[in-house]
Amino acid sequence: MSTKKSIPAPAIERAITAKYRPRRIADLAGQSVLKATLTSALERGMVAAAYLFTGPAGTGKTSTARILAASLNCEEGSGPEPCGVCGNCRQIPLGDHPDILEIDAASNGGIDQIRQLIEFVATRAIRARTKVVVIDECHQLSTAASNALLKTLEEPPAGVVFVLATTERNAVLETIRSRCQELSFRPLSTDEVQANLKGICEEEGIVITETALAELARASHGGLRDAQSLLGQLRVLGRAIATEDVWEQASAIPEPLKHSLLGNLLKGDLLSALEDAREMLSRGHQVDEVLAGLRGGVRDVMLMQLVPAADGRLEATAAGKHRITALAGRRSYPELQVIAEVVARGMQANHNRALRGATLLDLVIMEASQAQPVAPSVVAAPVVTARVVVAEEASEEPACALAPAPASPPAAPVGPDAWASLLSKLPAGRVREKLEAATFLNLSDSELVVVGPASLAALAPAAGKALSAVLGRPIKLVRRAE
Ligand SMILES: Nc1ncnc2c1ncn2[C@@H]1O[C@H](COP(=O)(O)OP(=O)(O)OP(=O)(O)O)[C@@H](O)[C@H]1O
Ligand SMILES: [Mg+2]
Ligand SMILES: [Zn+2]
Repeated sequence: MSTKKSIPAPAIERAITAKYRPRRIADLAGQSVLKATLTSALERGMVAAAYLFTGPAGTGKTSTARILAASLNCEEGSGPEPCGVCGNCRQIPLGDHPDILEIDAASNGGIDQIRQLIEFVATRAIRARTKVVVIDECHQLSTAASNALLKTLEEPPAGVVFVLATTERNAVLETIRSRCQELSFRPLSTDEVQANLKGICEEEGIVITETALAELARASHGGLRDAQSLLGQLRVLGRAIATEDVWEQASAIPEPLKHSLLGNLLKGDLLSALEDAREMLSRGHQVDEVLAGLRGGVRDVMLMQLVPAADGRLEATAAGKHRITALAGRRSYPELQVIAEVVARGMQANHNRALRGATLLDLVIMEASQAQPVAPSVVAAPVVTARVVVAEEASEEPACALAPAPASPPAAPVGPDAWASLLSKLPAGRVREKLEAATFLNLSDSELVVVGPASLAALAPAAGKALSAVLGRPIKLVRRAE
C-alpha cells in the first residue's frame, strides 16, 4: 500500500499590481486633473473618439484605458461608475474581452497589426456598445503602421474609441497627436504613493513601519507599479518590514546617508563628507548614483531656499524634508549654484569615463566644498535681485562690489566680498557683531536676509536703521532660523 503523503499545494499569491488595479476612475491614485476630465466626459456623454495617454510607466495609463472601456460598456449603463459585477465589467479589466482590442506596439507595431485593427473596427461588436482599441507604447509603431492608423483616426468609425498610450510623448508623430485628445499622467507624489501602499498593507495585513513605507514611496520615483511590486517582494520576507529592508530591496541609497553627505558638504565638514561618499561606494552604489543623489539634494536645498512652501515637491520623507529645510540656510543661493554645477560636471566626467570611481567622487566633493559664488555678472540668480545703490554720503569706495548700479538692474547676487565690505561699513557695535556672526543669504532692494539665532530678530529695528544709512535706502533685516 502506498503511503503517499498529501502535500498541500503552495498558496499562489496574486500579484499586488493585478489585485489592486483600479476599476473605477475614483479609485485612481493621483491624476486629479485627468480624473475630472474623464468623469465629466462620461457624465455628459461626450467621450472623445481618440485619446492619447502620455506619462511615465506605472502611473495608470493601461488601467485608465480599461476603466474607460468598462465605463462605456457597463451593462447597467454608461457613466463614470461602472457597476463592477456585470459581464463586461468583470471581463474588461482582465484585458480579455472580444470587443476590446489591446495592441502592444512595442512587440507588435507593424502594419499587420494595424490591418487587424482596421478589420476589428469594421466588424459589429459582439457584446459591447462601444468598441475600444488600446494601443500601448504607440510611439513604437512602424512608419507604415502609423500612416495606416492616421487614416483611421482621420475618419474614426462610429462606435469606436481609440486610446493610444505612450511613455514617450515626443516620439509620437505630430499628425497622430493632433488627432487625439491628450491626457497627461503625472508621476505620483511620495505622499500619494504612500497613501496607496498604506491602504494595501492594511488590507493585506502587511506589517511595515511608517518610515519604511515612506522610503518605499520615495524609492519608486512616482511610479505606483514599481512601488507596489517592491511591496510585494518585501511581503515575502514574512515579517515586519523595516526601513533597511526597503533600502536593500530597492538598492537605494539610504536617505539619511544621502542627507548626511549633503549636510557635511554644505557645512564644510569635508572629512565626514568624503567618508559618507566612501560608505555609499562600499554599500555597492555606483558613482553616478551617488552624484545623482547629491545633485537632487542640492536642488532640494535650492528649492527650499527660494520657495519654502514648495516642500510637497521634495522627493523626501517627512524627516528628510526637515533636514533639507534646516540645510537651506547653510549656503547662499549663488554658492549652491556653483555646487550644483560642480556636481553636474562630475556626472559628465563620469559619463565620459574621463575619471572613475572614488577618485572622481573625492574630487567632486573637494571642489564642491570650496564653492565660491562666481563674479556677479556671470551668475544670473533668478530671485536674488540685489541692486546695491551706493549711498551718497558713503565714502568714495562703493559699499558693495556690484557698483555701479545700472539704471535697469540685471539680477545679480551679492558675493562674500561684497557682504564683508558691507559689514565693514557698519559702525562698530552690537548690530555689526551680530551680523558678522550670521550667515548672509540674500540682499534685495528692500531686504537683507540672513540666517542666525533668534536674538537677531530683536535687533532688527536697529540693524535696519544702520543698514539703511550705509546703503542709502530703506532696508529691513529679515532673519531665517538656522
Ligand atoms: N494612478 C494609479 N492608481 C492606482 N493604481 C495604479 C495607478 N498607476 C498604477 N497603478 C498600479 O500599477 C499597476 C500598473 O498600472 P498601469 O498598467 O495602469 O500603468 P501604465 O501607466 O499603463 O504603465 P506602462 O507605461 O508601463 O504601461 C496597476 O495594476 C495598479 O496596481
Ligand atoms: Mg500600460
Ligand atoms: Zn457593469
